[in-house]
Amino acid sequence: MAKLDIIVAPDPRLKRQAEPVKKVDDAVRRLMDDMLETMYAANGIGLAAPQVGVLKRIIVVDVARDDEDRQPLQMANPEVVWESEDARTYEEGCLSLPDHYADVVRPEAVKVRYLDRENEIRTLDADDILATCVQHEIDHLDGVLFVDHISSLKRNMIIKKLQKLKKQQAVEAAPA
Ligand code: NI
Repeated sequence: MAKLDIIVAPDPRLKRQAEPVKKVDDAVRRLMDDMLETMYAANGIGLAAPQVGVLKRIIVVDVARDDEDRQPLQMANPEVVWESEDARTYEEGCLSLPDHYADVVRPEAVKVRYLDRENEIRTLDADDILATCVQHEIDHLDGVLFVDHISSLKRNMIIKKLQKLKKQQAVEAAPA
């Protein structure tokens, strides 16, 4: 397995529509494994392929707490097929928007259909933090970030700070 680079916003690659996976084969499984490793290394609970520069509809999720065994989910072509009327507010973060958090309102529970790593169709009934996380990751496949769900004032503030940080890092990385 290999750790991949995570793209940080603002970046046009995070705003594009990802392509469906035709079949979950060895190449897709390898990517799923690399994405999980990358996510764990970054202490994240979810990661979508566009965040590592691959425009395919693939996500990985693990919302287990530190004191629990790992519960990795690897999904291709995940699709919300049902959502609850009840909504839930959760303070979200994102590995592509490091150190920024905001309250986002989403359906409290969802049913998701997807292909697992054996290319089998499965459904997942998710509520609570798992529902939030899966919806957040599926958003990435459509070029949507959690900041797109909050006020433009707050969004612009976060994006500006990230832009500034990127400029600083570019200066520091440049040869003296
Ligand atoms: Ni994210």
